[in-house]
Amino acid sequence: MPMPAPEHHPAATPMRRQEFEMLPVDARALLAELPVVHLAGILDDGTPVLRTVNSVVVDDWVAFHSAPRGEKTGLVGRQAVLCAEENVAMAPSTFFDAQKACPATTYYRSVQVAGVIEEITEPSQKARVLQALMEKLQPEGGHVPITADHPFYRGPVSGLLVAGIRLERIAGKAKLAQNRKPPEIAGLLTSLWRRGLPGDPRALEIIRAANPDVPTPPFLTAPAGTTLHAWLPATAAAEAAELLADEYWNAGAFSRDEIARAHAGGNPWVGARDGDGRLVASARAISDGGKLAWIYDVIVASAWRGRGLGQAVMTLILDHPAVRGARRVMLGTRDAQSLYARFGFVDRDSLPPRGFATTEMVLVRA
Ligand SMILES: CC(C)(COP(=O)(O)OP(=O)(O)OC[C@H]1O[C@@H](n2cnc3c(N)ncnc32)[C@H](O)[C@@H]1OP(=O)(O)O)[C@@H](O)C(=O)NCCC(=O)NCCS
Repeated sequence: MPMPAPEHHPAATPMRRQEFEMLPVDARALLAELPVVHLAGILDDGTPVLRTVNSVVVDDWVAFHSAPRGEKTGLVGRQAVLCAEENVAMAPSTFFDAQKACPATTYYRSVQVAGVIEEITEPSQKARVLQALMEKLQPEGGHVPITADHPFYRGPVSGLLVAGIRLERIAGKAKLAQNRKPPEIAGLLTSLWRRGLPGDPRALEIIRAANPDVPTPPFLTAPAGTTLHAWLPATAAAEAAELLADEYWNAGAFSRDEIARAHAGGNPWVGARDGDGRLVASARAISDGGKLAWIYDVIVASAWRGRGLGQAVMTLILDHPAVRGARRVMLGTRDAQSLYARFGFVDRDSLPPRGFATTEMVLVRA
């Protein structure tokens, strides 16, 4: 049963810097994605309350639950404000100025919702909120779905407080360097890449997406008609699996699902997209960042071969912050030795033993 639709109201508070304001649809998507929100209100006796809660977006509400006699119960029927945020990257002052501290900043996305906390009392709606919370926080399932009349849940559904705020006054802020000039932003992307903290490749792609007019920094220079990406979201893993499934080292050995999981696991992974946003090249690595990196699954879509994309993704993965510091970089190939020779790769057997004992035995759990 759908929750009551809200009436239309303007956003929470007017934003001081318009360039940072998110579209309501994006603010809502961010709120739906972030697992934890902070909820603040004032109790009857004037006591301010600030609580951290798991929340879920259901229809046009942000909803949460609590024990029936908790402090949150005292906030029902009262004005409250709720916020959630994601830190994208901290940029030190030195990215922008050799001496002054002032340019130091944090790039982030945040969302705020203001309104009256309303209790949701109708059992089937309460159950829907609780089930939606489970789906968000335990997406793998593994439990009997929550319904109001199931014997497992009748008691909890009637006993818990389920409440929400209508998404009428929602405001999102994406502070992602939109106030800076395009060449400065290109410099910021390069600084993040050179710094190379674990979240930096993702941060630079988020900042780049928020500033589409930024000139391509040299390290992301791509063949005509394509864009190079220093980080790819897990949602692109199925696209990579599609490109790779029929190649000789995967066909018959690994399923699409295994190839996709190998990409979505958070290891260094770069790629290129065509003008329609389709993934047309990809390369990934496993690296300890110091001793050893291994590059896997280098691929260019057949229609795009011979235009420099293979070299572009190889250059980028070798320069990836997690790979560039590795003492030894390995990859296996059946027939593309001359391509990789350009990057300094040689046959392992042509090298004197280094690092491994000469009597090494490499074991495999098949
Ligand atoms: C190998 C592959 C990634 C190269 O991508 P690409 O975009 O076609 O390569 P580029 O356009 O950057 O070409 C780089 C150079 O390498 C050469 N090259 C391309 N494929 C090659 C191969 N299999 N063996 C040797 N050289 C190759 C090209 O001729 C080109 O030489 P040039 O600069 O003198 O013209 C691509 O052909 C591919 O995906 N092949 C199937 C999958 C595969 O074999 N992956 C590598 C497994 S380790």
